[in-house]
Amino acid sequence: MKHVLTVAALCYGLSLVASPIAAQAQMPSGDAERGRLEFGVCRTCHYAEAIMGHNNGPSLHRIFGKVAGKQEGFNYYSDEFQSAQFVWTPELMFVWLENPMAMFPDSSMMSAGVPDPQKRADLIEFLKEASVREP
Ligand code: HEC
Repeated sequence: MKHVLTVAALCYGLSLVASPIAAQAQMPSGDAERGRLEFGVCRTCHYAEAIMGHNNGPSLHRIFGKVAGKQEGFNYYSDEFQSAQFVWTPELMFVWLENPMAMFPDSSMMSAGVPDPQKRADLIEFLKEASVREP
């Protein structure tokens, strides 16, 4: 089951890599300032600033480009994320956050996600920007 889910996530990632134009068309362009506010629903469990480290959830500082479920110092990953084999990209996060528990039902992240595509794009822009701005 876990393996199947990892493969499913990879396929999502691969199909998005294989058709970058389709993926871009799907994700509206985001606004980091609005995204800062959208990030409020994540902040109970996550920080985006390096200096803040992990919270109830792992740090989201420079999350893009990292393999899921492997950050040092965060000891509460689910088995599903510990065994995950995919890299976080903006496109994958955009798809996942629409309904996180649909893609990874065995994850320990209790979030209803962000159904609004524009809000998801804003939030992702904020995470990108915070990763560049913060040391
Ligand atoms: C109630 C707490 C909680 C909320 C709210 C929450 N998360 Fe999480 N998040 C977690 C936990 C716990 C994990 C680890 C999940 C696992 O191991 O299954 C996680 C994992 C993640 C990861 C993977 C990190 C990694 O190292 O692979 C990302 C990305 C993420 N969350 C983004 C978000 C975003 C964006 C939001 C807001 C829309 C959000 N989360 C809301 C608790 C939360």
